[in-house]
Amino acid sequence: MTAAARGPGSWTYGLTIETQGLTKRFGQQLAVDGLDLAVPQGSVFGFLGPNGSGKTTTIRMLLGLAAASAGSVRLLGLDMPGRFQDVLPQVGALVEGPAFYPFLSGTANLHRLDAAARHADPATRKARVSQALDRVGLSHAAGKRVHAYSLGMKQRLGIANALLSPRELLVLDEPTNGLDPQGTREVRNLVRSLAADGTTVFVSSHLLAEVEQICTHAAVMSAGRLVAQGPLPELRRSGIARIRLVTPDAAPAMSVLAGLGLVPDAAPPQPDGEVVTAVLEPAPGDAAPGNAAPEDIVARLVEGGVRVRGFGVERESLEDRFVALTGEGFDVAQ
Ligand SMILES: Nc1ncnc2c1ncn2[C@@H]1O[C@H](COP(=O)(O)OP(=O)(O)OP(=O)(O)O)[C@@H](O)[C@H]1O
Ligand SMILES: [Mg+2]
Repeated sequence: MTAAARGPGSWTYGLTIETQGLTKRFGQQLAVDGLDLAVPQGSVFGFLGPNGSGKTTTIRMLLGLAAASAGSVRLLGLDMPGRFQDVLPQVGALVEGPAFYPFLSGTANLHRLDAAARHADPATRKARVSQALDRVGLSHAAGKRVHAYSLGMKQRLGIANALLSPRELLVLDEPTNGLDPQGTREVRNLVRSLAADGTTVFVSSHLLAEVEQICTHAAVMSAGRLVAQGPLPELRRSGIARIRLVTPDAAPAMSVLAGLGLVPDAAPPQPDGEVVTAVLEPAPGDAAPGNAAPEDIVARLVEGGVRVRGFGVERESLEDRFVALTGEGFDVAQ
């Protein structure tokens, strides 16, 4: 049974993209190293990583544009590249910008690209092209030559090309790359509205802020390896949490905290008192601390004669977490 015959909503494992041990070597270099990706159906999945971390190489292997050195890919529950003829008509992709003819209009370019797609029905081409241009907000510029398009308009035309047929999955490689803040917002809103239609969207970016704003799930690449993946709220929770205590009684506070199994640190005193911090929940894989609840910590401090002027639990931001995971900074704004 083909994916099309099963219809939407029924892949075997509920995973629209699944890779196991996916690997790509370029000579000595491992550009992608044993990648196990799991992209749930209906998710907006952010594929994050700094420049050169292997995002485009992975996407090219997903789509059968590059051969894997090892490992397997399933798209829509079917093996790739073996089943590409069943899979690709249901997948819209924007990888490193499609080549447009600059002296043809947006409409004429899409007509040419659709005519080159084997499964596209010529009888419905005109209507589909016009709908796709409308969907990306380019109807007003449909007759304009592409050489007069802004970068953002070209990017939207590329997405319109990916939308010429109904799709189960959209794969967008850095769709906001090189766009100004206005163009970025437009593409972001477009991705959001496509996802609202139920299409699974796999979108790569080196901008954490992009992914945080539109994605339900994310994966983080660093030097070809996957260092984290999961629902965004789960990734947020996976950061380090610390307590921060302001008190005039730092020394007894430290001994109460140590008695609870925490490892306290004294920070430079602030105008309102001395500051003591301690890790409450470590990052996964780090040594476990004491497992006291914040309210119990406060109660024990007070019982121990510590005067508490301020107490809070601070969690590492997603950005801090990703920087820690990749060892590199992400651009957080454009
Ligand atoms: N055709 C190729 N031949 C040799 N090396 C390559 C080739 N394509 C990619 N690489 C190398 O593989 C690594 C991963 O590149 P890739 O383009 O997948 O990264 P990326 O995460 O998409 O980066 P960016 O954010 O800059 O687009 C890089 O070190 C790159 O130089
Ligand atoms: Mg890339």
